[in-house]
Amino acid sequence: MAGEIKTASGKVVKMNTRAGAVLPDIDMYRDRLWTEAEKSIQALGRREITPDDYIDRIRDLHKSIDLVAELRPFIDKALAEKTDQVLNQMTTPAKSWTMQLLYLEPHEVHPPHCHHNLISTQVVLHGNVYAREWDRVARLGPDTLLLRTRTDRWFGIGDRFETTEVSKNAHWFCADDKPAVMLNFYILGFQDWTFDPPGTRGRRMLDPTFGVQGDGMIVAKELTLEEGYLRFGDLPIDKVPLPRRNVA
Ligand SMILES: [Fe+2]
Repeated sequence: MAGEIKTASGKVVKMNTRAGAVLPDIDMYRDRLWTEAEKSIQALGRREITPDDYIDRIRDLHKSIDLVAELRPFIDKALAEKTDQVLNQMTTPAKSWTMQLLYLEPHEVHPPHCHHNLISTQVVLHGNVYAREWDRVARLGPDTLLLRTRTDRWFGIGDRFETTEVSKNAHWFCADDKPAVMLNFYILGFQDWTFDPPGTRGRRMLDPTFGVQGDGMIVAKELTLEEGYLRFGDLPIDKVPLPRRNVA
């Protein structure tokens, strides 16, 4: 959490970003959902599996467990306290990983953004979430990116985001008029090739309504954290049409 900001409509919203902070190590959840995931993190770290293998293993693990039943106490705590619940977190000089539940208040928006050297799985555990996901295809300029739309729909319980450096790296999501809870499990620093140079700041905001090419590929403008929240922080995603095709 990096504080709050007043959007153009006057609504005050919270801003979510890790912003390079070193977070405290937490090891409070030790059941199979974590211990098996940790084995896959270690295998990825030893280069025994690829990032795609890792994503497959985490998906198989999640499908072998009733996630909502397994995480029920933490889902209920997130809803009662209206806050995220960090289950496991570790930071080393080059890498880090976090397994947590994200609490989204009614209408909460995570404005469009992309990530640097992140592999992440998010699963809806409670409520409904509107999701837009994109591949980053190319950097067009110092602050413009070319995006390919991969997802543009409502997610219900069990629906998943799977994010790597090269697949569905950019996303935008929001809750409907009720609270939502998502499993948010991400690891940083495990990929050799990155879209931007090493040392790039992690979560960067985007405006995917900036432009579109004739073939329908989105031209997105990079924004500061504050610009992203001012522009999109209280707009329901499904009320913001994406530019479709520039036929001029
Ligand atoms: Fe994200």
